Amino acid sequence: MSSVCPYAHAAVVQPDPCADYLALKEAPPVHWDEVLGIWFITGTEQVGELIRHPALSSAWPERGRTVLHDPADEVNSHGRTADSVRRWFMFDDGTRHRALRGLVAPLFSAGRLALLRPFVEEQADDLLARRHGRIEVMADLAVPLSSRVICRVLGLPSDTAPRLEGWAQDIAALLVADYLPEVSRRGDLALSQIEHAVATALESPDLPPDSGLAVLRKARESGEAEEADISAVAGLIVYAGFETTSTFIGKAVRSVLHAGAWRELRSADPAVAVEELLRFDTSVRQVARVATAPVTLEGQRIEAGDLVLLMLGAANRDPGVFTDPDTLRLDRRIKKHLAFGQGQHYCLGAGLARMEARIVIEKISRAWRDVRLVEPPTTKLHFGIPVLERLELELS
Ligand code: HEM
Repeated sequence: MSSVCPYAHAAVVQPDPCADYLALKEAPPVHWDEVLGIWFITGTEQVGELIRHPALSSAWPERGRTVLHDPADEVNSHGRTADSVRRWFMFDDGTRHRALRGLVAPLFSAGRLALLRPFVEEQADDLLARRHGRIEVMADLAVPLSSRVICRVLGLPSDTAPRLEGWAQDIAALLVADYLPEVSRRGDLALSQIEHAVATALESPDLPPDSGLAVLRKARESGEAEEADISAVAGLIVYAGFETTSTFIGKAVRSVLHAGAWRELRSADPAVAVEELLRFDTSVRQVARVATAPVTLEGQRIEAGDLVLLMLGAANRDPGVFTDPDTLRLDRRIKKHLAFGQGQHYCLGAGLARMEARIVIEKISRAWRDVRLVEPPTTKLHFGIPVLERLELELS
């Protein structure tokens, strides 16, 4: 049993958005990584097939193992990760998934998004109004905007927003490296702090009646959800909705600068541009599954119990599907990309993420005729998850 964590030493600076994908380009679309003991799937067709395959389960935090999990270790050998995470409907395939997803899906309907739009616009305007001459895109715009939006959707008070960044990172680390005691401790702490924030908000007379937490409380009262589901779903929405969106906004700006396409952005249709930016460099580069029965694909046999990573970002650069895939073209008309997944776990917040990104793209491209990078953007690998850390711009 190896005790070396392949992620622990991997703090790197990666200013080039293509760097994450080029390494996978030469690899076969279905291949086994000996070091990690994981399957990597990179082709569009193969990812599309496996993401909807009934033998590939989303319950990987509970059932999936890598060579790093010691079967003799009591904590990791059963019930990996906190109870709260195992309640997340994202990690469930059956009726429970449909029931819990169905409860919160109305929060993301077209009608609800239209009602939320003025709030998102107002927050973006507020954050941009404070910037004169310079902006650090992550800390000054992307992180506060997407955390305020998540708090609004859930009904958490706005002063909770600055805590979301730490929570999301600690939970993300928990999901990929819970065999490290420090990661486990921090992840569990983040989850219990979310639980506490949720309990406090539920007691508050100011909880908006149409908020996510109020919807979940009603579901508990009618017996459609259990008490523990309330903070579990809230934790899932913080994890799935905050950093994904803030990182994507930062990555979108980075991609435009990398491609020297700022002027093009000013005349682009924001809706079209955002789809190409999602294809070019998404924030959720991969999703995991665990095989519940053997599956054969491209002549390779995936065994029951194997962990499988479906590389959405790499699949979005498949030259068999996208012409000249490593070139950003803001007017590219994309029929379908995989940035939000596919099938029953298709991103619940896709419409919200698109709305936030379009608003930001529209506002910044109108506000700033030209921008210049103050220094190369830095991306840090936080336990294997690339987090865009700094993107500082000079504005004109
Ligand atoms: C650019 C931003 C975003 C990206 C790239 C993204 C990507 C994804 C992907 C790829 C999945 C599928 C996971 C899987 O198949 O295992 C997913 C699921 C999910 N996303 Fe997003 N997401 C984003 C923003 C959001 C937002 C803003 C929210 C909510 C506020 C959200 C909530 C969810 C939820 C709840 C799921 C689980 C759905 C299920 O299992 O049924 N996401 N997202």
